[in-house]
Amino acid sequence: MKENASSLVIPAHVGIIMDGNGRWAKKRGLPRSVGHTYGAKTFKNITRYISKCGVKYLTLYAFSTENWKRPFEEVNALMKIFRQYLIDSLTDFRDDDIKVNFIGDRSAFAEDIIKLINDTEEIAKDRKGMQLNIAMNYGGRDELIHAVREIARDVVDGAVNISDISEQTIADKLYTSGQPDPDLIIRTGGEHRLSNFMLFQAAYSEFYSTDTLWPDFKAEDFDEALRVFNQRNRRFGGV
Ligand code: IPE
Ligand code: IPE
Ligand code: MG
Repeated sequence: MKENASSLVIPAHVGIIMDGNGRWAKKRGLPRSVGHTYGAKTFKNITRYISKCGVKYLTLYAFSTENWKRPFEEVNALMKIFRQYLIDSLTDFRDDDIKVNFIGDRSAFAEDIIKLINDTEEIAKDRKGMQLNIAMNYGGRDELIHAVREIARDVVDGAVNISDISEQTIADKLYTSGQPDPDLIIRTGGEHRLSNFMLFQAAYSEFYSTDTLWPDFKAEDFDEALRVFNQRNRRFGGV
């Protein structure tokens, strides 16, 4: 974590549960998909702003392993937005030197989306600025299942002793391997739950919930989350 000019401590890793697109659209008598389109615009603007604030890692929750339960038309609309967004992001964020990375099980997406995800990561791989993790078909439980399978395989292969399995062994098998845990998790849309976001990594994250719906979330809202974060007393189980 680092201090900025106004001496606010800047969290090294911020996670955002981008919720409230559907309600934002409903309030305006629009289809839910329009809310997702506006949400995608917020995604771009806020990512740039957070990068300028000096955050080193940003994880944005875009689509959960449970979101496939939504009506076919909505999932379809989201996939269309992802396609468009991924095509834009092949060049986006270049000026800000943002390194784009995807977390979650990408194998569930259509072939063309998988290719766009892979290409986006490849194009951004040598960038030195903030690392952006886009969580797509991401679930904290799914991530843990994935990690357990890999560790079990290492045990069977004789590469790891059961008694040597530690928190670090698990952390190294997560999609966020090598990254610090999130210091601050922001949820828009007013709910007070994680909805399967970063279950292992969130052990000591500070949680900030705002009623602001995601398409309305602005730089000032992030500043407010930072201000509140700076008032928290993080004890990590100590005194
Ligand atoms: C978050 O907004 C975006 C995704 C989960 C893909 P929602 O679509 O959940 O919006 P609300 O919560 O129904 O308002
Ligand atoms: C969490 O939002 C998932 C994302 C923001 C991608 P949901 O709208 O899916 O969460 P619940 O259903 O309110 O818990
Ligand atoms: Mg929601």
